This record gives sequence, structure tokens and C-alpha cells, in this order.
Amino acid sequence: MRATLSAPTIVRTIAELHARLDEYRRNTPNGKVGLVPTMGYLHEGHASLLRRSASENGFTVLSVFVNPLQFGPTEDLDRYPRDEERDRAVAAEAGVDLIFMPSVAEMYPKRPLTSISLSGVTEPLCGASRPGHFDGVAIVVTKLFNLVRPDRAYFGLKDAQQLAVITQMTEDLNTPVEVVPCPIVREPSGLALSSRNVYLSPEEKEQALVLSRSLKQVPEWVKTGISAKELSERLRQLISKEPLADIEYAEVLEYPSLTIPQEENGVLSASSRLLVALAVRFGKTRLIDNILLPQA
Ligand code: PAF
Repeated sequence: MRATLSAPTIVRTIAELHARLDEYRRNTPNGKVGLVPTMGYLHEGHASLLRRSASENGFTVLSVFVNPLQFGPTEDLDRYPRDEERDRAVAAEAGVDLIFMPSVAEMYPKRPLTSISLSGVTEPLCGASRPGHFDGVAIVVTKLFNLVRPDRAYFGLKDAQQLAVITQMTEDLNTPVEVVPCPIVREPSGLALSSRNVYLSPEEKEQALVLSRSLKQVPEWVKTGISAKELSERLRQLISKEPLADIEYAEVLEYPSLTIPQEENGVLSASSRLLVALAVRFGKTRLIDNILLPQA
């Protein structure tokens, strides 16, 4: 059962966050706390995580924090979209109890001297092209886990590598939180929802549909037998038909280890857990999308 039905309060300091959580925990012994960490500019994908948390926990905390430590020097930190009023409305609709919206100074009064760096799982895909990105994600998520002490934390599978990193980190560190993976939410056109879709021109958005269109073909290719190399080449061929698409990667890896997949007689095993992942730029906008096999 949820604690409240009213619009969520926004707190901006750690002291206020603790006061609210202490109050909930004092009044609701055994009450469960769910956390949905986000960078704001919420869309239906975030709303689905929030609704799930609200249905599974007595108290849901939404964190909205554009974390500078996970952006590279040439990335979009300064222009990352923000809309506090809309975020609050989406949160209210989804049943959030509390929004934690700290400033950079509140989260990082000094530049942290501690780093959290995972090997292996952070190295391929986005880790290869965004050095330091997952260190930034790992430290902010660890701080949020320590601040909120959630029973469950909800992450979308669109960022499948991020989910693998966070799951691995919580296992390695025995963090007492259940990491809950949630499905990708798409527009009816197939485009995976992302706060960054707002950057796309109508032409870029139209061409970006090639990502979900090509990923849709993957289960059949794997079923009929294909090598990892051939799969990646076929994806590249399909995507590069769109003149604005600039492919960063189109790869298949074992999931969640993100290691090179096993092949039997030169073809991928249809029973392996595989992540087929894409990162493609359309103009200045970098989009990611993926499919996990076998499908549920
Ligand atoms: O997925 C995101 O929005 C961010 O990487 C996260 C998990 C909120 C950490 O800043």
C-alpha cells in the first residue's frame, strides 16, 4: 500500500530527504522503500518505472539529478533537457511520494576522492566510447543508495549496460538493495523513449526508426543461425542505408557479463542470453537501443 495519494513533495537537501524517510520508516515499520534514479525530463519509460515502484513499495522516491560526473567534456551536460514542473506532474500521476532534486553542490560539496570503477562489464560498448562514464554512474548511484537506503531500485533495460554495471556493483559490494530491471518503452513508431529524443529534427527522428526496425529482425536471424560477425555486419548494412546515421557500434555480447559470445559451429547459440546493442548518431544526437535474447 502507498503511504500517500497527494502530489509529491520536492526536497533539495540530504537533511530533508532523511527527515522524510525517517518519518515514513518510523510510522510504517516494515514499509518498503523504492527508488527510481533519473536525470529528469521524464517520459513514459520513467513513468513505467515509477508506477512499478509505487505498486511494489509503500514509499517511492524519485531522484532527479543531472550528474556531471558521468558526462565527458564534449558531451551534452549543459544542454541536457530539464523541466521541473513537468517532472513533478509525471511523478504525481505515477504515485511518487517524494522527489529528491539536489543541486550539484549538495551531492558533491567537494570533488570525491573515491572512485568506483568496474572492470570487464564497463569496457565494451558505451564504456569504450565514453571513458569514465560508468565510474560517474557508479559513484552517483552508490551515493543515492546510501542516502535513500531503498529496498528496491528500478532501472530501464534501454541502458542495458548500465543495468549490468549496477547489478554487478551491488553484488560485489553486498549492497542491500534489489535491482529491478524494467522493459524498454517505445513510441508506437518503435523509437525507444529517451530524454535525448527531444534533440532530434523531424528528419533525424524518422531515420532513427531504423534502429528498432533492424533490431526487430535479430531474433529470426539468430533462430535460423548466424555468427556474431555476420549479425553485426547485417545491422550495419541496414542502418547505414539511412544517410544521417553514423554508427558507433552494432554488437552482440553475452549478457550480463558483456563478454564475446560463444558460437557453436560458427553460429550464435539460440539459447544463450545475448545482448544486441546499437549506438548511432543522428546529427549531434547519440541514440542507443538494444534487444535481449531469448525474448521473454
Ligand atoms: O540512467 C540515468 O538516467 C542515469 O545514468 C542515472 C542512473 C540516474 C545515474 O545518473
